[in-house]
Amino acid sequence: METTKFKPCDLVIYGGLGDLSTRKLIISLYRLDKSSLLEDNTKIIAVDRHEKERSDFLDIAYKSLQEFLNDQIDEEVWQRFSSRLSYSKIDLTQPDQYQRLNEIIDSKNRVMVNYFAVSPVLFKDICQGLSTSGVLTDESRMVMEKPIGHDLESSKEINDAVAGVFNEDHVFRIDHYLGKETVLNLLALRFGNSIFTTNWDHNTIDHIQITVAEEVGIEGRWDYFDKTGQLRDMLQNHLLQILTFVAMEPPVNLKAESIHNEKIKVLKALRPINSNNVEEKTVRGQYINGFNKGAEVPGYLEEEGANTESTTESFVALRADIDNWRWAGVPFYLRTGKRMNYKRTEIVVYFKQIPHNIFKDSYRNLPPNKLIIHLQPNEGVEVEMLNKIPGIDDNIKLQKTKLDLSFSEAFKKNKIFGGYEKLILEALRGNPTLFLSREEIEQAWTWIDSIQNAWKNLNDPPKSYPAGTWGPIASDSLLARDGRAWEG
Ligand code: BG6
Repeated sequence: METTKFKPCDLVIYGGLGDLSTRKLIISLYRLDKSSLLEDNTKIIAVDRHEKERSDFLDIAYKSLQEFLNDQIDEEVWQRFSSRLSYSKIDLTQPDQYQRLNEIIDSKNRVMVNYFAVSPVLFKDICQGLSTSGVLTDESRMVMEKPIGHDLESSKEINDAVAGVFNEDHVFRIDHYLGKETVLNLLALRFGNSIFTTNWDHNTIDHIQITVAEEVGIEGRWDYFDKTGQLRDMLQNHLLQILTFVAMEPPVNLKAESIHNEKIKVLKALRPINSNNVEEKTVRGQYINGFNKGAEVPGYLEEEGANTESTTESFVALRADIDNWRWAGVPFYLRTGKRMNYKRTEIVVYFKQIPHNIFKDSYRNLPPNKLIIHLQPNEGVEVEMLNKIPGIDDNIKLQKTKLDLSFSEAFKKNKIFGGYEKLILEALRGNPTLFLSREEIEQAWTWIDSIQNAWKNLNDPPKSYPAGTWGPIASDSLLARDGRAWEG
């Protein structure tokens, strides 16, 4: 099969020596190169404020691979990959220093892709530096990571600064969940299978649960995390993205604009949570000391560098309602937390109970069918259904059974790439489908800001939960009040 050729790129990573670059970007780029997915002439330029030679940067990149690759380094691939790498010292706050890029970037033969792998406080400086340097062309692209601001206002400021320099079509806003195979598979599952296209609304679905549980704590990121909290760090982006994929109407095609439009409609239909209903609809939690894989771990307030008075939440559970025709009366329960029992990201769709039970011998109340989509780990899809227990006995006896599709079993020959690999590749190819539009992000902030403000007015500290559990008891009560329970 012929593979499509794309124009090679000059990928400039601002913050090239930082955590994101060395832990994720370098590793993903190496993996892409190993799978022959980088164009031959693509170059990678790390930019940072420290005085370094190219050879120092190569050492740093090699050490990152040794530490984070989870695989042997293939020396032949490393030779090819390292020949793409270079380093340039630029203080990002000094506009005149961006001139140096003119000596490195070859805009005649390559597209300049600017990856902002630094704190958002530097985004405006980079935009200004690039604009005065004269290095940008009409083709130049930029890639930025969440968090894009910490509320609607700050997000608008960043988006305005970027819009002053880059065309919206060339702005690639990353949410790494959109690069995950299983999140993308939601499109296939929903819009490629008639059993789901016809059974996907308030007529057949009782409610939907989305859980993104993390086993890790805050991993030495106290400063960032304490100012952010789980609502803004995870729910504003990753969980709302999953929700839009589950709830959106079928897009007319797979083009970026068609998908963005449908996702925005869902975000706009989210019923506001504000001071009138925040207590009944949300739960905030903070972990105290407990256990992880049998070992004792500290509580949030005992983490390194902690402010012991902090009331930042490390757990959120909430009930979201989507006020549109399809989802009227179908609650979406979302929960996400750090230091939970184990890592688990899943969507559970609970179908309605059948109207009349003729199998009372087996079940007083027939358990509902469930569709469980495991996003990570152990990617796969399960359908829980009732079957007759085989036997020649007179009575029909039922038992819950599972149709179980594990991706690693079904697609043994296909390599599953990580979210970053997929998204970096798409940014290098200039395909915006899997990235977020400005409007989407601002709409998500509008909904989240209202919750954040309501919490502020309530002034209620988060409820504690021991590390290694599924969150505060109040999270169970949130569903129990509606006669439901979290998937065990
Ligand atoms: C990041 C958050 O966006 O996602 C982190 O900032 C979180 O706090 C991480 O740990 C989780 O990503 P994943 O891919 O491990 O589910």
